[in-house]
Order: sequence, then C-alpha cells, then structure tokens
Amino acid sequence: MIEKPKVEVCFTPNMFPLYAEDFEVVVVIDVLRATSAICTAFHYGVDKIIPVSTLDQAIEYKDKGYYVAAERKGKIVSGFEFGNSPLSYTNDKLKDQTLVLTTTNGTKAINMAKDIEHLLIGSFLNLDAICNYLIELNKSVLILGSGWENKFCLEDSICAGAISEQLLKTNKFESNNDSTIAAKYLFLSAKSNYFGYLKASSHRKRLKKLNLNEDIKYCLTPNQTDVIPVREDYYLKKL
Ligand code: MLT
Repeated sequence: MIEKPKVEVCFTPNMFPLYAEDFEVVVVIDVLRATSAICTAFHYGVDKIIPVSTLDQAIEYKDKGYYVAAERKGKIVSGFEFGNSPLSYTNDKLKDQTLVLTTTNGTKAINMAKDIEHLLIGSFLNLDAICNYLIELNKSVLILGSGWENKFCLEDSICAGAISEQLLKTNKFESNNDSTIAAKYLFLSAKSNYFGYLKASSHRKRLKKLNLNEDIKYCLTPNQTDVIPVREDYYLKKL
C-alpha cells in the first residue's frame, strides 16, 4: 500500500530536532504575532523579510541602512522604528522594500528550521491559502509552533490544529503523533470563538496589558490574505 504523506505538529522549537529529519516541509506559526505580521507585511507589498534571531544582528542591519523591526516581550525595542504589530504593516510604507525582523520567539523558530527544503510561514490570516498549497504539494508536513521561550503556547497549537484538521479531512494525509491529535482537538474546541477561548492564555494577557487587543482580534481572524511566505536562501519572499 502506498503511504500517505504525514501531517504532524511540533509544539515548541526545542522539540524541533526530534522531528526535523522526517520532513521536507515545515510551516512555522507564531499567531501572536510574528507570522501574522509577516503575512500582513507581504500582503501590503513588502518585497523581502530577513528574519534574524538576535538584537545584535538587527543592529548590524540597521547600521547598514536597512529597515529593521525589533520586538522583545511584546514591545518595540528602543532605538528601532518598527515592531511586530501586524496592524502597523497595513499600509504601503514598506512597499517593494526589504524588512529585517527580530522577535522574541517567531524569528528564532524560523531560523531553527532554515535548512528545511520548503519552509513556509503560516497563521490564521493565510489559513486556507496555506492548506490548499500543502494539499497540492502532497509532501509530509511538520507544523512548528513558536511557543513562548520554548514553552507550550495555546494560540499556535490551535492554529496548528486548524491546519492539521484541513489536511487530514482530505484523507490524503495521515498522522501518527499524539501532538497532532491534541492540536486538532484544541482547534475543534476553540473554533467557535478563538478570542474567548484564549482569554486566560499567557500571551493574550501579556498583549492585553500592552493595549494590543486590536492586534489579537486581527491575528485571530482567519483568511484575510492569500499570501504564502516562503524561505529562499536567507530571506522570506512571497510564493
Ligand atoms: C514573538 O515572536 O514572540 C511574538 O511575535 C511576540 C509578539 O507578540 O510580539
């Protein structure tokens, strides 16, 4: 019998090495907010995004004259013009430009998976677009949640469950891991009201304290763009 491609979920970046070697396709998710900001920036015309893990790398790019966005613990890092709020990219300020981005967790997860052949960026914002693309690609997919400082994070797991559910229900994919089953059930119990379901979650509370509720609502609204960001070389571009 011909084996079906797999769809599996890895909840945190530090578990990634346990899964990595079995997958040619990895979708990195950081719903609140890095991958939502990336999808939004591309939707509004950014040409390339260079994800960097450290502030030192970000400063080096800034000194060379690049546009640089830097976030730590939900806030724009002082000295930088741009942060990680997706709503701050809903304009044409950076149209056709290259943006360098560093965030607390999301850009680290992206760089962790940088050697994977197909590295894609997912979020609720491009949910159907990315699922349709994965179905067409027909290869085993690992969905990597960015978590929070390597700890489990609810919103990424729910989004990973949403992608898994769409792929599994085509009957063209299979799953062997309990993490995928868990993510799928989290999605099924959250899907009627993501915002309410996440009320007690740590990053929703953190962003609420920073008056970023509008960002949260935006990031939790599925299918606002068809953009699929992919890695090419050291940067991300639109597929
Ligand atoms: C991250 O990368 O950890 C997040 O995107 C944090 C944030 O909400 O800015």
